[in-house]
Formats: sequence, C-alpha cells, structure tokens
Amino acid sequence: MHRDVKTILYSEEEIAKRVAELGAEITRDYRGSKLLCVGILNGSAVFLSDLIRKIELPVRVEFMAASSYGSGAVTSGKVNITHDLNFDIAGWDVLIVEDIIDTGLTLSYVKELLLKRGPKSVKIASIFNKPSRRRTELKAEYTGFDVPDEFIVGYGLDYDNRYRNLPYIGVLRPEIYK
Ligand code: IMP
Ligand code: MG
Repeated sequence: MHRDVKTILYSEEEIAKRVAELGAEITRDYRGSKLLCVGILNGSAVFLSDLIRKIELPVRVEFMAASSYGSGAVTSGKVNITHDLNFDIAGWDVLIVEDIIDTGLTLSYVKELLLKRGPKSVKIASIFNKPSRRRTELKAEYTGFDVPDEFIVGYGLDYDNRYRNLPYIGVLRPEIYK
C-alpha cells in the first residue's frame, strides 16, 4: 500500500468485479440503442477504459473535461468546461461516465448542458458515489460503490493530480491535504 494511503476501501479485484457487473447491466439496458459513452476527464479515464471493455454492444466513446476543484480537496462550486465534445450528440443515447459524484454540482451542470443538444437520452455511470455530500437532486442510474465522506484516491481519482495510477481505491491520509 502507498504510504500516503490510510486504508484501502476496495481492492483492484473488488473493483474489477463491480465494473463487470455494471458492464453487463449496461449491455442489457442499451441493446439496440445508439450508445455514446462520454468520459469526463481526467478522473474517469481508468473506469471508462475498464467499463467499455465490459459492454458487449457497439459503442462510441468521446470525452469532455470539466473542473470544479482546482488543485485542492474542497469544491469551489463553480464548474468550468475546459474541453467540450467535438461531436454532435443529437439522437444518441448518452451515458456520462464519471469517477465520483460528490456534491453532484459538476454532473448536474454537464447533464443540463448535454440535454440542450437534443440527445435521445442522458444517463450517468459513476464508479464511486458519496451520497452524504450531495447538494443537488442529481441521481446516477449506475453506481459502483457508495463511499464514506472521506477524500479518496486511486483508480483514476487524484489529489493534486497524483495517485491516479493506484490500482485500488483508498482513503488519503488527511495530513497530506491539510
Ligand atoms: P462534485 O461536483 O462535487 O460532484 O465533484 C465531482 C468531482 O470532484 C469528481 O469528478 C472528482 O474529480 C472530484 N472529487 C470529489 N470527491 C473526491 C474524492 O474523494 N477524491 C478525489 N476526487 C474527488
Ligand atoms: Mg472528475
């Protein structure tokens, strides 16, 4: 275990099993539809690459980048689209793929934005979810694990752009970000 990590919440194996279950569920639900996965960079890159390989359907993959955090551990509440889609989503069944839903502010903003562009549907898949922190009505159709109100890293999630490459999800030692 990395020395900046206090505890491991879910191992590489546990995450892989859950991602396979989500992929199977999405495969069942989207059969016959025009599925477009939109990964929200940078955090979702690891989850997205694992998830799409568990979806047994034709799927198109595009990316957007949104930031609300800067480099710290506390949300600013303001969402910036730092890289928009380069693709017309009209008529597509859009599945937004995200690393974690915390306050829900980022995805509420992104979902509203995409809904204005005439897609057939917009749903959300997030590997982690912190329900206790929600500040919006936002709900994800597919979530991997509910996590406690602690700052977590690994499996794509960062603190100050570090730790994304840890294969498990762990709680960051508070002294690292205090
Ligand atoms: P929200 O807008 O508050 O839902 O924040 C969502 C974004 O904040 C995620 O996409 C992450 O990039 C980041 N975030 C929230 N909680 C954590 C955490 O515990 N670890 C790492 N990143 C987090
Ligand atoms: Mg993110």
